[in-house]
Parts: sequence; structure tokens; C-alpha cells
Amino acid sequence: MIVRIFFTVLIPFVLAQTGHPRFDPPTESVILQEGSLAKIDCVAEGEPPLKYTWYNQSDEEITSDANNAVFSRRTENGCSLIFDVVNASHSGFYSCNAENMHGSSTKTYDIAVNTTSGNITKNETSTIDKVNILNVTEDSVEFAVETSGDPDSFYARYQEKLEKSETVQKFNKGDKVVVRNLTAGGLYTFQFQIESPNVIKLKSKIYNVTLLPRVPDVIFRSLKDGLLEIEWFRTFDDIRRETIDIYEISYNRVQQFRGTIWQRDDCEVNIRINRRCYYSRYTIAGLSPSNYYEIRLRAHTAAGYGKEYVNKIYAI
Ligand SMILES: *[C@@H]1O[C@H](CO)[C@@H](O)[C@H](O)[C@H]1NC(C)=O
Ligand SMILES: *[C@@H]1O[C@H](CO)[C@@H](O)[C@H](O)[C@H]1NC(C)=O
Ligand SMILES: *[C@@H]1O[C@H](CO)[C@@H](O)[C@H](O)[C@H]1NC(C)=O
Ligand SMILES: *[C@@H]1O[C@H](CO)[C@@H](O)[C@H](O)[C@H]1NC(C)=O
Ligand SMILES: *[C@@H]1O[C@H](CO)[C@@H](O)[C@H](O)[C@H]1NC(C)=O
Ligand SMILES: *[C@@H]1O[C@H](CO)[C@@H](O)[C@H](O)[C@H]1NC(C)=O
Ligand SMILES: *[C@@H]1O[C@H](CO)[C@@H](O)[C@H](O)[C@H]1NC(C)=O
Ligand SMILES: *[C@@H]1O[C@H](CO)[C@@H](O)[C@H](O)[C@H]1NC(C)=O
Repeated sequence: MIVRIFFTVLIPFVLAQTGHPRFDPPTESVILQEGSLAKIDCVAEGEPPLKYTWYNQSDEEITSDANNAVFSRRTENGCSLIFDVVNASHSGFYSCNAENMHGSSTKTYDIAVNTTSGNITKNETSTIDKVNILNVTEDSVEFAVETSGDPDSFYARYQEKLEKSETVQKFNKGDKVVVRNLTAGGLYTFQFQIESPNVIKLKSKIYNVTLLPRVPDVIFRSLKDGLLEIEWFRTFDDIRRETIDIYEISYNRVQQFRGTIWQRDDCEVNIRINRRCYYSRYTIAGLSPSNYYEIRLRAHTAAGYGKEYVNKIYAI
């Protein structure tokens, strides 16, 4: 009991302190009666003054011009959306945006209309029920998306950590849900929705996906007295993303049989260099002169190991 009281007091206090506009709940379903005058109130919490803007189903601003059949009106605490005479075409997703010096926040209203014949017109016949990540490569992600209501299409919205804007991709019924041409080692957020994000951006579950890293770019710097200095390039973006947590060098002595097939010995050496080591070079010592070695280097992210850079050297 004490715990419950503590939380109900603490949470509103903490959020009120931030001053950022906030809607509780962030979405709401409303049923309007056809033929009637209707008013929907939008009230945000947050530090005043708050500026409100209503948007219709086409994501266009609804002005306060009362000559229009649908208009907004500022109230003491917030801003109302008013329908002179509700009709079935008014159903859909509307949004109310509240803005102050700290930022802005949007509430989505799913407006359905109960027609005079008693039918409820709801512009939301399909939903996305479940999304699973099936396959992650260095430049693609495949999803399994379960929907109900048999939509003809749905959309994926995604953004990489270092990208400034979102990309939208449409999938039609029956399409394989693969998003391609992504950045290796990228850290992406994905969201799915039935409605076009160009019309309305709905709050939906966020799926974070880290891609596999690309094959490292490697050079061998020096080679004498059984020493081999290996250096690889790390792009500035890779360093900023922080998704690569390990570089792994491995090597074996190799011998060539019948002039074609190379065979590794069974003494494999692995060296793991973790993210906290800022350098990107390593010197292998003690290679036996007059022997061939196969040197491999690969990077690792949360998705696993990327493809290996592989090369052979002759130790002198
Ligand atoms: C749903 O709303 C969109 C606009 O947001 C509109 O283009 C579409 O025709 C509507 N669908 C129905 C079934 O009313
Ligand atoms: C949204 O508002 C704009 C501008 O008032 C209007 O042209 C458009 O038809 C409206 N969209 C719908 C679906 O009513
Ligand atoms: C519904 O209301 C809009 C104005 O918001 C109007 O343009 C349209 O003609 C109305 N539709 C019907 C069927 O009355
Ligand atoms: C829809 O409207 C009819 C009358 O037109 C009414 O009897 C019914 O209760 C309404 N349904 C809802 C869900 O509001
Ligand atoms: C209401 O729904 C019934 C069955 O779903 C349909 O037969 C009827 O045409 C609908 N009426 C209107 C006005 O859309
Ligand atoms: C994962 O996707 C890649 C590229 O589309 C494909 O080559 C590979 O076979 C897929 N792996 C699985 C397990 O489906
Ligand atoms: C892949 O993305 C790049 C930009 O990141 C773009 O220039 C290129 O056209 C895209 N290729 C395909 C096949 O979509
Ligand atoms: C996704 O990543 C963001 C930061 O990049 C993090 O705040 C959020 O909690 C993550 N969400 C999930 C579901 O892991």
C-alpha cells in the first residue's frame, strides 16, 4: 500500500518538473454521432504557454476559421476540435500537437463515426499484431509481420542512429518483408504501421536492430624477424555508432598441397581486441620464418560476426 501511494505521488511530480508537453494517454479512440455537433478537447500537461495545432486525416492543419465545417477553438486549458455536423467522411486519425519552450508532443485521436443507420464507420480496419526479426545481414533485415484485417499494404519506417531523417518503405500484401541497402554495422530503429506515415505517424512499438559489420579494410605494415604489424581502418561513423564491440584477429600456419589446396595446421591463434582499445593495429610476433600464414580479421556487433578479411603472408 505504501509503495502504491509513493508512486502515484512521485510520477506526476517528476514529469511535471520536466515541463515538456505531455499527453496522458497519448492516444484516444472517439466515437462521434452522425448529424450532431461534436467537440473533442485536447489538453496537454507541461509548462505554459502551450501552443496547440490540430491536424486532420490528411495531416493538414485545421484552422480556427469557424466558417469551415471542421475547425479548432482555443479553450481555457487547451484546444478543441469542432465538427459542425458530423458525417461518415470525418472518420480517421486526427492529431493534436502541443508545443512549448521545451519541445512538442502529439496526441493521436482515432475518430469513428456512428452513422444514423447505426453502422460505425471506423477508418482503421486492419492492425499489425506481431513483428519478428527473421534475418539480419550487413545490409538488410528481414521481418515476419503478422496482421489482422487483411490489409492491402503496410509501411515500415526506419532510421539509422547517424541519419537525420526517417525512410519509409511500403509493403504490399504477399511481399517478402525485406529492407535492403542499409548501412553495415548500423543501429536502426524500425516501426510498422498500416496507415501511410506521410499522412500520419502513429506511435508504435520500436524494434532496434543492429546490423552485421562489414569486412574490415586491412593492411600489413611491416614484416621482418617473424613480426607482422596489422592495421585496419575504422571509419569515423563506425566509432560514433559504437556498435562494433570486438575485432578478432586469427591466424594459422598454412601449407599448400599439390600446388592448389591450402591446408591450415590445427594451431589456430585468436586475438580479441575490444571496443575500449582505441588503437586499430596489432603486432603478431614469433611467426616461423619461411612459412606461410593465413591471417584473418573480422568485426563483431550485437548481430554477430561479420565476414572475414582473409589473406596469406610468407614469414621472413
Ligand atoms: C481512411 O483515411 C484516409 C485518409 O487518412 C483516406 O484516404 C481513406 O480513404 C480512408 N478510408 C476509409 C475506408 O474511409
Ligand atoms: C484536411 O484539411 C485540408 C485543408 O483544410 C483539406 O483540403 C482536406 O480535404 C482535409 N482532409 C480530409 C480527409 O478531410
Ligand atoms: C461531410 O462534411 C464535409 C465537411 O466537413 C462536407 O464537405 C461533405 O460534403 C459532407 N459529406 C456528406 C455526405 O454530407
Ligand atoms: C449508434 O447510434 C445509434 C442510433 O443511431 C444508437 O442506438 C447506438 O447506441 C449508437 N452506438 C454507439 C456505439 O454509440
Ligand atoms: C450498415 O451495415 C449493414 C451491414 O453491415 C449494411 O447492409 C448497410 O448497407 C449499412 N448501412 C449503411 C448506411 O452503410
Ligand atoms: C539472410 O538474407 C541474406 C540476404 O538476403 C540471404 O543471402 C541469406 O540466405 C538469408 N539467411 C537466412 C537464414 O535466411
Ligand atoms: C542505396 O542507398 C544509397 C544512399 O544511402 C542510394 O544512393 C542508392 O541509390 C541506394 N540504392 C538502392 C538500390 O536503393
Ligand atoms: C532502442 O534503442 C534506444 C536508444 O538507441 C533505447 O532508448 C531504447 O530503449 C531501445 N528500445 C528497445 C526496445 O530496446
